[in-house]
Amino acid sequence: MWGPEGLDEVEAELLGPPEDLKGRAVLEIGAGAAQCARWLAAQGARPVALDLSHRQLQHALRIGGAFPLVCADAGALPFADGSFDLACSAYGALPFVADPVLVLKEVRRVLRPGGRFVFSVTHPIRWAFPDEPGPEGLSVSSSYFDRTPYVEQDDEGRAVYVEHHRTLGDRVRDIVAGGFRLVDLVEPEWPAWNSSEWGGWSPLRGNLIPGTAVFVCERD
Ligand SMILES: C[S@@+](CC[C@H](N)C(=O)[O-])C[C@H]1O[C@@H](n2cnc3c(N)ncnc32)[C@H](O)[C@@H]1O
Repeated sequence: MWGPEGLDEVEAELLGPPEDLKGRAVLEIGAGAAQCARWLAAQGARPVALDLSHRQLQHALRIGGAFPLVCADAGALPFADGSFDLACSAYGALPFVADPVLVLKEVRRVLRPGGRFVFSVTHPIRWAFPDEPGPEGLSVSSSYFDRTPYVEQDDEGRAVYVEHHRTLGDRVRDIVAGGFRLVDLVEPEWPAWNSSEWGGWSPLRGNLIPGTAVFVCERD
């Protein structure tokens, strides 16, 4: 699943036709509980699920799956050059790092020539709107161009959640600086069947503004 709209890989085929995934080595970045890796394994691929959070990987372990789980930073991938055919990330790592080019360069390094990296993030336009599912989430409340990160702190002032904003142009420049060619930018539309509200996502907003941006990149 690429995002809360419900666009899934069976429909989107952004990693290629599912039948071509058989036997392919695929790295999932910011895997969380490794939902994508689990699906990839079911298609006959050879996924590796990577996340910075040990706790998330414990959830992955509990749910199960016969593929490696790796606890590491996406900016310092513990793999040899050219280890993977494909890489993917659904809202993993990239929105949360201050230096996305570092991550992109690392992903490029571990991909074989011709390898594809598909990643989804919150659509940059959402930054300008309050993260509310109702009508209050439809009025611009801050600058789209303000790259000051969103930070939540604990009682001792330590950052416990950080999100970094990149404009659409920033993302394109980051991808190019990371050594990739941008092949497609998918902006999933809110489908009629999806009536769920989750966080700032809702049919009301989804029908008016994009919520997810999926970047399809290739290593030449
Ligand atoms: C919004 S969750 C997405 C999880 C999963 N991909 C999904 O679709 O449910 C973001 C994940 O990225 C991970 N993450 C954040 N920064 C990271 C980093 N620098 N390296 C690796 N993983 C990171 C978090 O631990 C978290 O599990």
